[in-house]
Amino acid sequence: MIYRYAFGQPYDTDAVVLDVPPSEGAVPHLDVAVGEKGQDAVRFSFSMDPEDILFGLGETVRGQNKRGHRYVSWASDIPNHTENLQSLYAAHNLLLVFGKNRLFGLYLDDPGRVTWDLGWTRRDRAEIVSENGDLNLYILEGDSLKAIAREFRQLTGRSYIPPRWAFGYIQSRWGYAGEAEAREVIREHRKRHIPLDGLCLDIDYMDDFKNFTWREKAFPNLQGFLEDARKDHVHLIPIIDAGIRQEEGYAAYDSGKARQAFCTREGGEDFLAAVWPGMCCFPDFMNRDARQWFGEQYRPLLEAGFEGFWNDMNEPALFYTEQSLDRAFATAREQMKHPEDYEGMWFLNAAFNGMANNPEDYRSFWHRMDDGRRVRHDRVHNLYGAFMTRATAEGFRAFDPDRRFLLFSRSSFIGAHRNGGVWMGDNHSWWSHLKLAFHMLPNLNLCGFLFCGCDLGGFGCDTTEDLLERFLQLGVFLPLMRNHSALHTREQEIYRFSIWETMRDTLTVRYALIPYLYSEFVKAAEEDGMLFRPLAFDYPEDARAVHTEDQLMLGGECMIAPVFDQNAAGRYVYLPEDMLLLRFRSAEDYDEIPLEQGDHYVELQLGEFPLFVKRHAFIPLSPGAEYTDALDDAAFRTPGWDAEGAKYELLREDREMLGIEWKKE
Ligand code: NOJ
Repeated sequence: MIYRYAFGQPYDTDAVVLDVPPSEGAVPHLDVAVGEKGQDAVRFSFSMDPEDILFGLGETVRGQNKRGHRYVSWASDIPNHTENLQSLYAAHNLLLVFGKNRLFGLYLDDPGRVTWDLGWTRRDRAEIVSENGDLNLYILEGDSLKAIAREFRQLTGRSYIPPRWAFGYIQSRWGYAGEAEAREVIREHRKRHIPLDGLCLDIDYMDDFKNFTWREKAFPNLQGFLEDARKDHVHLIPIIDAGIRQEEGYAAYDSGKARQAFCTREGGEDFLAAVWPGMCCFPDFMNRDARQWFGEQYRPLLEAGFEGFWNDMNEPALFYTEQSLDRAFATAREQMKHPEDYEGMWFLNAAFNGMANNPEDYRSFWHRMDDGRRVRHDRVHNLYGAFMTRATAEGFRAFDPDRRFLLFSRSSFIGAHRNGGVWMGDNHSWWSHLKLAFHMLPNLNLCGFLFCGCDLGGFGCDTTEDLLERFLQLGVFLPLMRNHSALHTREQEIYRFSIWETMRDTLTVRYALIPYLYSEFVKAAEEDGMLFRPLAFDYPEDARAVHTEDQLMLGGECMIAPVFDQNAAGRYVYLPEDMLLLRFRSAEDYDEIPLEQGDHYVELQLGEFPLFVKRHAFIPLSPGAEYTDALDDAAFRTPGWDAEGAKYELLREDREMLGIEWKKE
């Protein structure tokens, strides 16, 4: 059952696809207080029992259970994902409340700032505040967590499905200087038989970091490179940023300007802010014509043969504006008069640090919405990245409505899950970020983002070989399996490390699992389900399972429980039912250990990682390959325990259903 309540004048966010008529009477489950417009305009609250669990909020810090922290839905370009943070790059306003005596979901379709105090002020109370006060509130009821999750997806639409090659291993790095280096990366993988399906091109490929341009010196024969890479079964995946450099004579700027496609200040002049290319204009993705124009910009690249892109800097990230720079300089001039005033120097510090992504800047530009309304950016801030994804996907569809392209974005809002995937932004080479990525998976899935992943090995800081190996072990199960790292950090390609053969062996498991993972992914998308689920979704009556934070259900048959700690040689695992432990070293080399329901300590040396398969079921394990084009969907092994009579329906990329029967080995 879905209830809808409108407050103020809701925006058309493109998040919801079902037409839910407004409900009458009091809002169930919540206390509602309507206050001053534009300032904490609407508050929703509810009391919590000690054992209540809260799932949702998609891309956020901390655990699977969101209780005990304050989160703010405000898409932010934030490179340090520490646990005190309230916001990351996305805004996903869905919460499921699961307790002994209640079960419901609430979704705020609100593109402005929303604060979620989930037992932070008081452990027994949740308070959710919409700053805009212009929103649709949806209350979801159902008889299980799974049922509510499905209901929510029906409300917001089917998840994006990428081409199957996007499940292959993708290598990426900010700083590949040009074609020669990129070719070398591919060569090194192939030479050592390290599987590979994609190579990302970061902003280094662009001419002066300008979107839709190419640095000819570094990539003298782009078409030739692209074709050679494809012959090698590697897809090149360029990055596209949100900002367009303001420069007459630059085609994207000129055409955008002519189409009035850029955001403006209140008086109508272009809004400008610095990003990588220098002073940029920002496409007005809220506007249909601007979206169409932006989508068209991808066409030459699509015609050249590119089949995948990643969209970045679309919160939008603003390094500074002329105004924020002026404000900082004014503070500096003032402070120069009082160099002895050390307290004032802290203001100086704050003034310069506050130049980027400044709230005042977000209040200083305007959109022309599809419905004709002119709206100040901060009111709809959280839609910006999502609507960039929408513009891109619409461009793809206009180019070829029948083809699937790879697309993943940094910023997102619910609704964007129909058009593309997400990656979790600039994590670090920290053990805690391995766990953070793991925690985000089920909550992203709940919000519709089935296609997701994190920068394996960590983006910022120098990785270590054991950390990269453990990241890869998690990556084996992530839809987006990409190794990405930042400029000037330790080189992070697998072949740089002394244990590269161990890492390669880990990747062989990924390729053996791709047919199964892809099949489970597509089924989850088409059945409005989740690929990754907290144990509470499958074992709601099992008190141990519902509070388990470091294990996840995967697909219909499996559970995963990675190693999260450096130097650990194993971990404790709770099995909510009998399961077969597959302890992998490679696709060819694994142990099969039947384990009964209950607690177990599982030994897992550095090159080993577990997958648990439910008793009476099995998984199809393909012979693997070095690229997805070569995967053979026929000769499957079928590890399983007591799986007589079990059958697995494998959904192939060509949509053929292949019935696989259990074979005792
Ligand atoms: C920020 C992105 O999050 C990161 O992945 C990328 O490498 C840099 N921008 C440079 O483009």
